[in-house]
Amino acid sequence: MTLVQERRLVTALPGPRSQQILARKAEAVAAGVAHTVPIAAVAAGGGVVVDADGNSLIDLGSGIAVTTVGNAHPKVAAAIAAQAAAFTHTCFMISPYESYIAVAEALNRLTPGGFAKRSALFNSGAEAVENAVKIARKHTGRSAVIAFEHGYHGRTNLTMALTAKAMPYKSGFGPFAPEIYRAPVSYPYRDGLSGADAAARAIAVIEKQVGADSTAAVLIEPIQGEGGFIVPADGFLPAVQEWCRANGVVFIVDEVQTGFARTGTMFASEQFGIEPDLITTAKGIAGGMPLAAVTGRAEIMDAAHAGGLGGTYGGNPIACAAALAAIDVFENDGMLERAQAIGSLLRIRLEGLQRADARIGDVRGVGAMAAIEFVDPVTGAPDAALAGAVAKAAVSDGVIVLTCGTFGNVIRFLPPLSIPDELLHEGIDVLAAALARTEGAS
Ligand SMILES: Cc1ncc(COP(=O)(O)O)c(C=O)c1O
Repeated sequence: MTLVQERRLVTALPGPRSQQILARKAEAVAAGVAHTVPIAAVAAGGGVVVDADGNSLIDLGSGIAVTTVGNAHPKVAAAIAAQAAAFTHTCFMISPYESYIAVAEALNRLTPGGFAKRSALFNSGAEAVENAVKIARKHTGRSAVIAFEHGYHGRTNLTMALTAKAMPYKSGFGPFAPEIYRAPVSYPYRDGLSGADAAARAIAVIEKQVGADSTAAVLIEPIQGEGGFIVPADGFLPAVQEWCRANGVVFIVDEVQTGFARTGTMFASEQFGIEPDLITTAKGIAGGMPLAAVTGRAEIMDAAHAGGLGGTYGGNPIACAAALAAIDVFENDGMLERAQAIGSLLRIRLEGLQRADARIGDVRGVGAMAAIEFVDPVTGAPDAALAGAVAKAAVSDGVIVLTCGTFGNVIRFLPPLSIPDELLHEGIDVLAAALARTEGAS
């Protein structure tokens, strides 16, 4: 379906039909499964999401960085339909099929590092992270895993332990998995440290509190996503990688949110000059189908014994067909260039907003992964209320934006790369107007 690429509000949100559906949600769906945009979606594509009442919202979130190639991309939709008509499941652990192997080959080829690699496929980002940790522990025979302040890795038991933020991800859900330790990250806007100094600080914590010879893995997002789109200072990630190499520690980079063209290169690791031992991917990999992967050095990946990795649905054939189509789009339809162009546009517009409003303390991001951090202009204290109010007002005016950050004071931009420039500009205009309306109110 080709959707008209426009912001169109025919009702206040939620409209009557969405209200009915959301009332059923409140009755039928567990309260813990919350939502931030009060609509019932019926179609999406290009740069818009259309609801049950015919409202068309500008999409600056891509369903949390998933529909990077565009929602219901024609090549992805066709691949899904063809595979669904052929077979929907055999379980790769029972009867393998070629598309899973082709996805693994593509991942081994596309991820940074010229060394021999292997991949294993799973269903979600959290599951990929869980498996990366399993593999690292098996390979090293050690148990400790280092995660970072502001890190987010998922909602399963192990990944809750790896995630830094209590509310809403962890509160009341313990006890958590043991042998997880947290090190300070590089957060240039707030710590002012060089990459080398931030790395030295983190390494000192690891060496003093855990010990290199107990450490199986260091796990880090190259740009922290849920934690606030925190871009580390230059040199931080290479220094951490170097320490891992020197100490036989597996360096796992979680590219679930940053991967697949989002930052203007296929993987964000490339921009920081790192070659992780293991990379976890999900989200953008399959144009909206649930698929995730761990990819890395063959000798580490092969440490797990036969039957030690897998799952009923991991690498489902429909998800693999979607991934092969999405990867084709990433590689051949100018997606890297598009992400870079969107990044430039966003940066220019957001820096313009910052110059006009001291409550925007920081504009940051890489490629089509950008964010603004709201602060008290005098004290620099995080202003979560302002970020929440602006995001809510933008949504009411037909622009889907997401908040994030340990302090809840960041609005992030993750548009699908299929969005037209005009909608990006209009989306930022709507956000700017929402921000202007709060002046004096916060
Ligand atoms: C960096 C990172 N890792 C892991 C996850 C968890 O992925 P999933 O929600 O698919 O389990 C996310 C999700 O936002 C993420 O951003």
